[in-house]
Amino acid sequence: MLIFVDEEKKQFHLTNGKISYLFYVMRNGHLGSLYFGKAIDIHSDFSQLQNDHSPTTYTSYFFGDRSYSLETLRQEYPIFGTSDYREPALSIRQLDGSHITNFIYKYYSITKGKPLLHGLPATYTENEEDAETIQIVLEDSLLNAELVLCYTIFKDLSAITRSAYICNQGSQPFYLERFMSAAIDLPDHDFIMLQLSGAWARERHIKERPLEMGTQSISSIRGSSSHQHNPFIALRRKETTECHGEVYSFNFVYSSNFIAQAEVDQFDTTRITIGIHPFRFTWKLSENEHFQSPEVVMVYSEEGLNGMSQTYHDLYRNHLIRGKWKNADRPVLINNWEATYFNFDEKTLIEIAKEAKDLGIELFVLDDGWFGKRNNALTSLGDWYSNTDKFPYGINHFANQIHELGLKFGLWFEPEMVSPISNLFKEHPDWIISTPNRPVSLGRNQLVLDFSREEIVVEIYNRMAKIIKNTNLDYIKWDMNRYITEAYSNELANDQQDEFYHRYILGVYDLYERLIQQFPNVLFESCAGGGGRFDPGLLYFAPQAWASDNTDPIERIKIQYGTSLPYPISSIGSHVSASPNHQTRRSTPLSIRANVAFFGTFGYELNPFKLNEEEKLEIKSQIQFYKKHQSLIRNGDFYRLLNPFKGNEAAWMIVSKDKSESIIGWYKVLATPNPKKFQTLKLTGLDPHRKYLQSGSNHTFFGNELMFNGIPLPPEYNGPNKKIAKRAGDFQSQIFYLVSIK
Ligand code: DGJ
Repeated sequence: MLIFVDEEKKQFHLTNGKISYLFYVMRNGHLGSLYFGKAIDIHSDFSQLQNDHSPTTYTSYFFGDRSYSLETLRQEYPIFGTSDYREPALSIRQLDGSHITNFIYKYYSITKGKPLLHGLPATYTENEEDAETIQIVLEDSLLNAELVLCYTIFKDLSAITRSAYICNQGSQPFYLERFMSAAIDLPDHDFIMLQLSGAWARERHIKERPLEMGTQSISSIRGSSSHQHNPFIALRRKETTECHGEVYSFNFVYSSNFIAQAEVDQFDTTRITIGIHPFRFTWKLSENEHFQSPEVVMVYSEEGLNGMSQTYHDLYRNHLIRGKWKNADRPVLINNWEATYFNFDEKTLIEIAKEAKDLGIELFVLDDGWFGKRNNALTSLGDWYSNTDKFPYGINHFANQIHELGLKFGLWFEPEMVSPISNLFKEHPDWIISTPNRPVSLGRNQLVLDFSREEIVVEIYNRMAKIIKNTNLDYIKWDMNRYITEAYSNELANDQQDEFYHRYILGVYDLYERLIQQFPNVLFESCAGGGGRFDPGLLYFAPQAWASDNTDPIERIKIQYGTSLPYPISSIGSHVSASPNHQTRRSTPLSIRANVAFFGTFGYELNPFKLNEEEKLEIKSQIQFYKKHQSLIRNGDFYRLLNPFKGNEAAWMIVSKDKSESIIGWYKVLATPNPKKFQTLKLTGLDPHRKYLQSGSNHTFFGNELMFNGIPLPPEYNGPNKKIAKRAGDFQSQIFYLVSIK
């Protein structure tokens, strides 16, 4: 049993021995927050956790009750306008123009497992013993509406998921103007807020700021979760490190406009709200219509940021990612994008594929440019049939040749887009997103299809399905290279235009679902101009995501380090590319490029013809290494050790669940003249009393030696030692593999 209810006091305690989450029905019938954190014992009465709710000078009284003010209370799903002045979770415009609502607790129900969220990605249980769900039903009798707050606690994970659902049971329509997925009022504000922000080619950099009185938020109104801000925030204590201390974190399982904010009020409480961005969101609910919010995953850790990450990784690997590829080895791939860009023909590609096969690569991915008349970024999106200039016998014939080489075959699509120069646009100029009588903005020379319209989703499905069938496709890279502008749908009523962004992303999810249901063996990799839509929403459909167009290993250390905070290593698309790098012109050794890319779904994005024999041999052994350790990389516990945002070195490691083996990556960006003599890297997560053998040497260590003293780094060049130095120059890296021995 994971959920305990005190029927009389209407207190709800979700606990699994690791965490406790407590809330109660307040005296006005709304839900109040009691506690979220490390597990506390089951108690008959938690009233003592309630804070002082008495009004103070100049607070307003809730509906005239002179001894009660919402402004002073910690709440679970707050509303505005009835004595609370903080930003609310919910705001409903009614036909008379009013916004006041009063949702009163009605009843609760508890179920085993976790119900699906219709049409939306969400965490799930395969075995109903893995989680318990409580739904709290509240009602506004004047509005005639039911609000259901849904909480799930997982048996073995320090995670709570939340979502909200509302149904109009009356005859009059009303408008949701703000419908957050979750809110919680934490009792203090002594936190550093951490976010993953950046830009194209430098996605998910870690940014931190201390919480201050007022509102601090991150958001996207681009129609996508975005390169700029990932839908994730964490609040850590000042003293929290990677391995120790408290963290509260919130990850939104959604791929479109969002807001995640922390509001510190006059009494130093911190209100977290997270959900669909209310800007340009209004949803009309007519009689018997309902709205389901997306889900938020809340993780509490008292074992620092690594503890938080491991919870997310386990949750996402086991309860979010689906399908055949969830637990399977992912093929080592080669992608032709950086090798050829648009400039290729069938012959060149076959040569590349043969060479790649010889190196040990398993999957050949043909990127942008294989369809319509696409020889540059100006044309043909939407024309999902062979580019006959490049493939005179058709893409099916090419696919057969790739398969005959013993390789799997993958194709790039950008399903949501259309080029102004394309047959699709000629046939259906009215299928694009645009506002009547206004010019339309281009992004990367392309327009966005109105995926809020089912007929368009179906047409794109049919076009893609034909290619997938005919080529026996094994893999799809689903790209999305521009954000939405002039948001408007020709098919939506005037008073429903602000439903557009949400309806659009539901269309994207719908197309994904149709494809994965019809083609369950295809491995999907999501992509959005690199990592512009790397969010848990898409991980539900595509088990891996292209992390960034930036393949420079030095930049990738930061990108992958930040990405690993919520997202499992098995989801992070990472490739070895050519040097000098195409995004930074930085030259780096082949070794560091692979040593970084190993910590993700591994592949290559270069022209094998440009490699010399020595490099080919090195690549062969990299691929063998990855294949040998891929299950450990995919399933193990990930620990960040040295933070690249804070210094010249970075390190991370993965330890198998049974602690019998570990792989460690260490990186140093710039060389140090006359470096330190004794250099070690302190490890973590090992069994202190087991003996480990360092592969490639005859060194053995106890786990505690490796954790307290560290693993010795090989000698670094200092001039006189040039004969024995194993590391020299900029961009050093080292991979260690440890295996436990008797
Ligand atoms: C952006 C992607 O991130 C790249 O990897 C590549 O697929 C290009 N689009 C192709 O247009």
